[in-house]
Amino acid sequence: MTRVICLASGKGGVGKTTLSSNLALALNDFNKRVMVIDTNLTTPNLGFHMGIPLYPKTFHDLLRGEAYPEEATYIHPSGVSIIPAGISIDDLKKTDPKNMDNVILDLVGDHDIILLDGAAGLGKEGLASIKAADELLIVTNPELPAVTDALKTVKIAEEMGTHILGVALNKHRNRPSELSVSEVEALMGYPVISVIPNDNDMQDSLAAKTPIVSHRPNSAASHEIKKLAGNLVGIDYQPPVQARASGLFSKIFNFLK
Ligand SMILES: Nc1ncnc2c1ncn2[C@@H]1O[C@H](COP(=O)(O)OP(=O)(O)OP(=O)(O)O)[C@@H](O)[C@H]1O
Ligand SMILES: [Mg+2]
Repeated sequence: MTRVICLASGKGGVGKTTLSSNLALALNDFNKRVMVIDTNLTTPNLGFHMGIPLYPKTFHDLLRGEAYPEEATYIHPSGVSIIPAGISIDDLKKTDPKNMDNVILDLVGDHDIILLDGAAGLGKEGLASIKAADELLIVTNPELPAVTDALKTVKIAEEMGTHILGVALNKHRNRPSELSVSEVEALMGYPVISVIPNDNDMQDSLAAKTPIVSHRPNSAASHEIKKLAGNLVGIDYQPPVQARASGLFSKIFNFLK
């Protein structure tokens, strides 16, 4: 059975696309058949994160009934299937997201997991991707505006009956000014199932159009994302001993600093 998981937030820029692209590759490494869809119709950029060339048919065409799924599906070198969105203003103006759940229902079957890279906020397209999913992964940052905005998304998803997997707390800097994991859990009412560090290598990965789990597989962020991917499919991922040791050294180093 195909699981459809939407990555959603309230606030923009918290890391949904970064996580969608990385989780897709990490789940693929766990031998899952994965598809990732750019359901962010107004500001799509999954293609940039994954290095997809401009694609003739896109998710916008699928929503308008102007393409078959095979025509809009790009096969990444890793084997992950990707449906990018159109980036033109024209695409945006001509496309209504209201049919998104039916279009995604048609794609179910060939994959173990379909990840939906959602739009920020609770506009029509954000709501459509939550409606199209069975499960929701909330992505947020450890700051009050991001968490309070995420809370609104959670409430709407609860009303829709979507199963909430938990919270991925991204861009964690371990600063006293940040909300702690327990504060985020208390505010959200759901467990934080992953804490992903703020990592400057993310910018390099974006520039290289290669998600960090592939570009810098031994970074702390990569190991945390692989752990999250394992968690989603019941696999206990353990970072190699060397990586755990270097994580410990960097903690001691930061403490001494
Ligand atoms: N853990 C991280 N450490 C450092 N930078 C990060 C991290 N996660 C994401 N970023 C950076 O934050 C920026 C926004 O990330 P991303 O595009 O994934 O967010 P988004 O939630 O999809 O945004 P939008 O709401 O616009 O769709 C990007 O420049 C990305 O490289
Ligand atoms: Mg995005």
